This record gives sequence, C-alpha cells and structure tokens, in this order.
Amino acid sequence: MGNVYKLAVIPGDGTGPEVVREGLKVLEAVSSKAGFKYETIMYDLGGERYKKTNEVLPDSVLGELKKSDAIYLGAVGHPDVKPGILEKGLLLKIRFDLKQYINLRPVKLYPGVWTPIKDKRPEDIDFVVVRENNEGLYVGEGEFINKGTKNEIAIQVSRNTRKGIERCVRYAFEYTKKRNKKTKLTLCGKTNVLTYAFDLWERVFNEVAKEYKSVTTDYAHVDATCMWMVKNPEWFDVIVTDNMFGDIITDLGAMIQGGMGIAAGGNLNPEGVSMFEPIGGSAPKYTGKNVINPLAAICALGMLLEEIGEAKVAKEIENAVMKVTTKMKSMSAGKMGYSTSEVGDLVVKNL
Ligand code: IPM
Ligand code: MN
Repeated sequence: MGNVYKLAVIPGDGTGPEVVREGLKVLEAVSSKAGFKYETIMYDLGGERYKKTNEVLPDSVLGELKKSDAIYLGAVGHPDVKPGILEKGLLLKIRFDLKQYINLRPVKLYPGVWTPIKDKRPEDIDFVVVRENNEGLYVGEGEFINKGTKNEIAIQVSRNTRKGIERCVRYAFEYTKKRNKKTKLTLCGKTNVLTYAFDLWERVFNEVAKEYKSVTTDYAHVDATCMWMVKNPEWFDVIVTDNMFGDIITDLGAMIQGGMGIAAGGNLNPEGVSMFEPIGGSAPKYTGKNVINPLAAICALGMLLEEIGEAKVAKEIENAVMKVTTKMKSMSAGKMGYSTSEVGDLVVKNL
C-alpha cells in the first residue's frame, strides 16, 4: 500500500473544471475508503492559457505528463480560440505523443436513463467501441493542389500501418475475451469502397482472430454499423474500428446511451500513460452555471482507476453511478433535477 498514484489533472476549458471537480470529489471519497493514496498535479492548459501566453502544450509539461500514472482531462475547446488549435495542439498531441493508441468508449445504458431508441433497455445497450487512436485520417497528412483556384484539390490521407492496426486489433480481441459477455468482436469498416485501408484492416483482423478461437468475429460496414446501433444495439459486444469511423460511431453511441452527459472514454497506452475524459465538449453555453452533468467525468475517473489497477474501486463507482441515474430526471444539462455539485455529492453518498 506504499504506492502513491501520481495523477495529472487538466480541467481544461468551459465546463471541464466543473465536472473534473466532481470527479476529484469522488476520488477523494473512494481513496479514503479503499485505502489507496494519490497526489494530483494540476495543469492550467487550455484556451485561457493560450490566450495569455500563446502556449498550448509546452514540451516541459508534456515531459511531466509522461511521468504521471494517468491523466484526467475535463474538456478542450474555447469560443475565442480558432477551432483546431486546442484540439490538435493539446488533445491530439497528447494522444499521439504518449502513444495512446486505443480510444476505449463504453456504450452502456444505465438504469433509469432515457434513450431515444424506443423499447430498448439497459440489457440491450451494452457494448464497447475500441477506436484506433493514433492513425488513419487523424495523422494530418495531405496537401492542397492549386489552392484558391477553380481547379483546387484537397487531399487528406488515411495512414494505416500494419503494426498500428495489429496492436489495436489485438487489444480488442484481448478486451473482448476479458470482458467475457457475448465474446463477440465486430470489425467496423468499409471494405467495399476503402479497398486499401480496410483490406489491410480485414486481413490483420482475420489473422489475429486465429489466435482467439473463443471470440466470435463479425464484420459490418460503417454505414450498416450505424443502422444496427439504432435498430439492434443488442447485437454488439465489442466493435473495433479506425480513428475516423470510431469518432463518428461513438457520438452515435453516446446518444443512445443517454447523451454526452454520461459518455466517458479512455485514451489508452496499455504499456504507458493513459488519459481519461468525458467525451462531450467544453459546453461554453453552460459554463460556470453548475448545471452540467458530471457523470461522464465521474465515469471517466472510474475507467482511470480501473486502468491503474483499482478495478474494485472502479466497479464501486459504477455501481454508485447506476444508483444515481435512477434518481435523476434527465442526463442533460439543466434538466437533471440536481445541480452539478449535487450529482457529485449523490455519487459520493451512494458509494
Ligand atoms: C473526440 C473528439 C476529438 C476527436 C476532437 C475534439 C479532436 O471529437 O474525442 O471524439 O475527433 O477525436
Ligand atoms: Mn468525437
């Protein structure tokens, strides 16, 4: 028990600080109960710092983040900062530089949470998306040809390396096996059109599958995946996909599990430092009003604890969250029936 976890905390922009505060409240409560120790190192990265100093993520800070046990992030995105600067300079930079090659996004409908999908219940909506997090269209490769002319062409490259696909797919198979629910892994791609990228994905997927005889494999094109996620979400157990498709289908996933207020994710480097975040944005409209839902951030904290080896505590947090969701009127900001800090208090009380 001598271990002290070093947690880097980046509250970030907008409502980030408000939801992170509730997450840290829960952390304090569970740590004293479970008897583990931690220290938090706060970083004021985000739009405000950028406006003052023109710095997004100094190398010195990146170096410190690499020495932490995990990173807890609130939100990035500031109304006065041109879109892309913070997203690329902070969020994507951390994901890439720390080699967080997995983006893990559980899509789980908790008890009492409203879903826009008629007749679906918690037992029907419970799957996990494993999104590749370091490659694909997100590498930022491309060019303009004849820029500004009538003959302009914009090229955006999707880079998919065998090694990058393989480590992601392997993680997904391991995860499916360990999760031990339906033990079914679906590759989500577009083999009928993207005949280079998803040809490689499919070949690697099928090769790795041979090592996991206990896992049932399946394939769905990304458009069909969207269709089934709405019509028959119960068919899914674990979905593995590339960076861009993963980005898109996990927003759909967030909606069917009750909205951004409850959707959490982890950017994992299974061999290094991982970062956890509520997947919604900085919600400038609700900033400082104590109305935003902190449950996504609290669930992200649970994922963080699971990753650093506190699986039991993580489960306790999830159980508490599931009690709180039954008491809330809605998962949406301002309609919860409670304030942000009251929801945090409720989670603590139900631990
Ligand atoms: C997400 C976000 C990011 C992404 C943006 C903010 C760059 O949408 O985490 O899904 O596209 O990955
Ligand atoms: Mn997204």
